[in-house]
Amino acid sequence: MKRNFSTILAILLFQLVSAQRGTIDQRVDSLLRLMTLEEKAGQMNQYNGPWAATGPLTNDDQLLDQIKTGKVGSMLNATGAARTRELQALALQSRLKIPLLFGQDVIHGYRTIFPIPLAEAASWDLPAIERSARIAAVEAAAAGIHWTFAPMVDIARDPRWGRVMEGAGEDPLLGSLISAARVKGFQGKGFGQTDAVMACAKHFAAYGAAVGGRDYNSVDMSERQLWETYLPPFEAAAKAGVATFMNSFNDLNGIPATGNDYLQKTVLKGKWNFKGFVVSDWGSVGEMISHGYVQDSIGAAAAAAKAGCDMDMESRAFIRHLPALVKAGKVKMPVLDEAVRRILRKKFEMGLFDDSFRYSNEQREKEQWNNPAHLEAARDIARKSIVLLKNENSSLPLRKAWFRDPAKPVIAMVGPFVKAKSDHLGFWSYDWPDDSLRISSTWEAVQRRAWPGTELLYARGCGISDSSRAGFAEALQMATRADIVIVTIGEARDMSGEAKSRSSIRLPGVQEEMVKALVATGKPVVVLIHAGRPLVFNWIRENVPAIVYAWWLGTRAGDAIADVLFGDYNPSGKLPMTFPRSEGQIPVYYNYFNTGRPAKNENDLNYVSAYTDLPNSPAYPFGYGLSYTRFAYSNLSLSEPVLRSKGRIRVNVTVRNEGDYAGEETVQLYIRDRVGSVVRPVKELKQFQKVLLQTGESRTVTFTLTPDELRFYDAQLRYRYEPGDFDVFVGGSSAGGLQAAFALKP
Ligand code: NOJ
Repeated sequence: MKRNFSTILAILLFQLVSAQRGTIDQRVDSLLRLMTLEEKAGQMNQYNGPWAATGPLTNDDQLLDQIKTGKVGSMLNATGAARTRELQALALQSRLKIPLLFGQDVIHGYRTIFPIPLAEAASWDLPAIERSARIAAVEAAAAGIHWTFAPMVDIARDPRWGRVMEGAGEDPLLGSLISAARVKGFQGKGFGQTDAVMACAKHFAAYGAAVGGRDYNSVDMSERQLWETYLPPFEAAAKAGVATFMNSFNDLNGIPATGNDYLQKTVLKGKWNFKGFVVSDWGSVGEMISHGYVQDSIGAAAAAAKAGCDMDMESRAFIRHLPALVKAGKVKMPVLDEAVRRILRKKFEMGLFDDSFRYSNEQREKEQWNNPAHLEAARDIARKSIVLLKNENSSLPLRKAWFRDPAKPVIAMVGPFVKAKSDHLGFWSYDWPDDSLRISSTWEAVQRRAWPGTELLYARGCGISDSSRAGFAEALQMATRADIVIVTIGEARDMSGEAKSRSSIRLPGVQEEMVKALVATGKPVVVLIHAGRPLVFNWIRENVPAIVYAWWLGTRAGDAIADVLFGDYNPSGKLPMTFPRSEGQIPVYYNYFNTGRPAKNENDLNYVSAYTDLPNSPAYPFGYGLSYTRFAYSNLSLSEPVLRSKGRIRVNVTVRNEGDYAGEETVQLYIRDRVGSVVRPVKELKQFQKVLLQTGESRTVTFTLTPDELRFYDAQLRYRYEPGDFDVFVGGSSAGGLQAAFALKP
């Protein structure tokens, strides 16, 4: 009976949703019938507000008139309840009163800044990541924003590319799960709720594989690699119901993504049946001229629209040329109708035709302006994002008993990040007038947390990019007086991000040199590194006993860092990207092919695939990260030796906390398909589980594998599995782990 009731309820609900959709589609169609050609092109046109720009701005003193005459469908970087209200009022003066959509790059928080996405990915904590996106949406929506240009789901194997900070790293599985979590977080309970913003999966596609890690550069890759590595997080976003996609600046195998029919029409709107709309990247329609793909802006407008790009961000090509192109028969009216239909549908779903000002609500904006729960959540995910890279002799956490005089511990804090505030926010973040109060610096947080009687010494030592060593003397003086030296160094907030590719990914300025000088004092040194990408810091890696990778952690960075330093939180982060030993190893990633001449070990140079001047192994592998406790893995066992095509296999492993602290471990399961009709990677992440273990506690962790998870794209791009032998690896990183094997049989 209960079952019948829920079935009936589900049917009713389905009918309701379909009826609503029906009405939306009908409303879209009736509106479309009323629209002139110019008004249709207007809906496909997106302008930047004149206040802040995130690209090369074209100033347009006709902007307000264009809004009033229905020539603008959407704006970006126009934010705040009051401002969006004013602009929306102008749009409602247009003939058909079609409301504007306001978009913005809310990448890792709006008012409350969360860790950069790459850092959050290091938490491997999907609910926490979803929550961070949820809060970002709540705050942004309250400020009149309807649409965020996030998540960025580009797989990245090249840390020279500054935009690795915006994504989830190198792995297609982790990237896909995070992509879906972030879409769900932004879009909340669905459009129409005033705290849900439309998400945008970007940059479609393969933007992360820019040659040489240079931003905006070309991409050349096999279709198989595209499907296997770069498309899965996009497909995951589409499946999670993402409202929009953004195409990318790069060309893919010679065709600019913005004019790429295969990507946008065959794959996205065809194979994946995506019902939302595609926005171009900033100016990418017009940039097809520089690519050498079209002659002029007229050609650019035609190529992009025909290839399935529905909205033109800041090229002004659609608004200027589409009407004439349609009149000349060079672009067919149904191309515009299809694009406008997709855009209008979202405006209806967002409820903007019912109440165009529903998001621009000053009262709600005020309420969300200082929401303490958001700051707490930011602290929580910030500490989960921190990765402990090295902790020799258990230097960390700081313990009172460890100091010369436990009643009077002396700690020296040195480096450009000790008192930093805005640098913790990282790229793609917003500055607010009261930031100095809201952002916790490491200095303030450590002061708050240190034991009574602790003497805290400070010296900046050097700036982030300084070439001057003038501050070293003071730093050394402080170090000499202290029992322990905590050094905070790294990249400034604008050193990783869009257009921030670096050919050298070493620590800028004289920072590493300063660490050398501090280590030479003989005092124990802990190094905290803040950055938007994996950096190379070999001297520190080899000579400093304790290293903490603290990325750019956002508004509550300082508190999260103090939590980890003092052991109030036991670090649990795991690297979502491989850290190279040198730029010469790039691209470097864990799921590579073995080659026909794999090196037997690091010294094997006998006509094998190796560098003569560098081991093949990275500085730190994907999935790596330490804890204050030790996790021991044992008893890896499989429920059966053979997996049948309709069957499943259980993989059990015992994980025991053998150290002195309770802690969380991310147990990772990788497979290797030993022989395939196309070569398979040496390892592929298939599943992971996070387990919290008390001291001395042991837990059996069980994974269930099915043949579906063993599928891959074969030479004909069919997604299927092949019978054969598989290795299973289970451990706390992509390197090593316990090993077992099974066979997949029909
Ligand atoms: C260019 C960036 O590539 C894109 O990610 C961003 O959303 C737009 N600019 C708008 O700021």
